[in-house]
Amino acid sequence: MKGVVLAGGLGTRLYPLTHVTNKHLLPVYDKPMIFYPIDTLVKAGITDILIVTSGPHVGHFLGVLKNGKELGVKHLEYAYQETPDGGIADALALAKDFADGGPIAVILGDNTTDADISEAVANFKEGAFVFLQEVQDPERFGVAEIDPNDTTRIIGIEEKPQNPKSNYAVAGVYLYDNAVFDYIAQCDPGYAGRNELEITQVNNFYIEAGQLRWHELKGFWSDAGTFESLHASSRYYADKAAAMASVES
Ligand code: DAU
Repeated sequence: MKGVVLAGGLGTRLYPLTHVTNKHLLPVYDKPMIFYPIDTLVKAGITDILIVTSGPHVGHFLGVLKNGKELGVKHLEYAYQETPDGGIADALALAKDFADGGPIAVILGDNTTDADISEAVANFKEGAFVFLQEVQDPERFGVAEIDPNDTTRIIGIEEKPQNPKSNYAVAGVYLYDNAVFDYIAQCDPGYAGRNELEITQVNNFYIEAGQLRWHELKGFWSDAGTFESLHASSRYYADKAAAMASVES
């Protein structure tokens, strides 16, 4: 399976830091943020990767990632999102040629996790697959309503609901078959009131078609797109490195 890292957007929630460089190149502990989602894909055996990016600092990516070899990437491509805040689904639409009719693993460039997604990737055949994790602040995320009579089934997903129907946040890690590009073409920018093509609408199209499955994301997971979450993510990886160093010494 090929992989796509979505690193567009303007990162306005992190101004003035994102006046310096693209959000996804800011440090999370000892590495640029985008190293984490790339590492998640590479650990799952995905080494053919497209990065979609945008904004005033796009040139910085080449200098940092080069051809991706140091990260274990065998083939790295870049695409440019011309409407930098057109939405996650708008950015993903640019991966159509790269996907070349096949399935794709998609990860948001500001999502950091040490969860292992390799089993889901290896078993993926068709439809869509999302990863959920229980959180204290579901209103910041896409939130899944799970069928109480069949907990393998998601009834629907709401984007940043004021009254969340559960504590299950949809992580920014998704597996899709090639129908995703037809669903994106049906997306409506007014869907969640942000003038963006929303990945949540894409996921709800798959739910309506009875083609969305889910699994819990086991391990640490945090976006790093706000000052609080950027700090929390840095702290987690610093503590983890310190714990490993103390075991080794
Ligand atoms: O972190 C998980 C959450 O990410 C999900 O639970 C939500 O359903 C999903 O909509 C998303 O929510 P955010 O509001 O946090 O997404 P944000 O606008 O911060 O974008 C996240 C990443 O997606 C960003 O780091 C880069 C990429 N992106 C985003 C936009 C808006 C693009 O590549 N292009 C874009 O136009």
